[in-house]
Amino acid sequence: MHSLDHEKLPTHVAIIMDGNGRWAKLRNLPRIEGHIVGVESVREVVIMTRELRIPYLTLYAFSKENWVRPKDEVRKLLELLGLYLDKELPLMLEKGVRFNVIGERRDFPEALQAKFAEVMGRTAKNKDLVLNLALSYSGRKEILNAVVTLIEDVKKGLIKKIDERVFKKHLYTGAMPDPDLLIRTSGEMRLSNFLLWQMAYTEIYVTDTFWPDFRGDQYVAALREFGQRERRFGRVKED
Ligand code: FPP
Repeated sequence: MHSLDHEKLPTHVAIIMDGNGRWAKLRNLPRIEGHIVGVESVREVVIMTRELRIPYLTLYAFSKENWVRPKDEVRKLLELLGLYLDKELPLMLEKGVRFNVIGERRDFPEALQAKFAEVMGRTAKNKDLVLNLALSYSGRKEILNAVVTLIEDVKKGLIKKIDERVFKKHLYTGAMPDPDLLIRTSGEMRLSNFLLWQMAYTEIYVTDTFWPDFRGDQYVAALREFGQRERRFGRVKED
């Protein structure tokens, strides 16, 4: 169907889903319409990731900085998120998807926090795909929080030596592997405070396509290009 070399697929894909607003603007639609169609892209990418047996997918859905958007857009985005979770839970259960939130869950209204907990709880034993949704997420805050919890653990005598392995465990992504591939839609060439520690050696793929138009064929193109990248992790090329 897509002729991808399975040996060259990433283990962890991270995506900055950008361009919903511009997609809507081009069509003279309210911004929220872009987000609504964007949810369809989310569904398609999740299903495809699962079918390709890629075990980790992390989607940037709402940054810590996004709270300053117009109140009405934030309200509707949160509403959409609640609807998404209600609607997708059966699919997650059917497809073996473990849902996980990374970010500051406490920033959300209590009813939504309860929903996060419910979906995380009910999918906790699923093993086929970990779906991380980054919500009220900030990479710098994540690193700072890790430092604070590390200091507490040191004070309690739980940790003697701080190294990268120990530090990494204090991040939201804990024991998960770092992303191999970052996809960013709508042409912007920046990290936007996403997974700063984890993306030290991540391959970056940027496409001009707006998120609502990013579907299976676009995803395959990104994965195919990833398969052609030569990853050296700071070493010289081996013959
Ligand atoms: C970026 O587009 C997108 C977001 C800030 C939100 C991403 C949300 C979704 C894809 C839908 C909700 C997700 C779930 C999982 C329910 P933008 O608004 O920054 O677009 P612009 O840069 O063109 O203005």
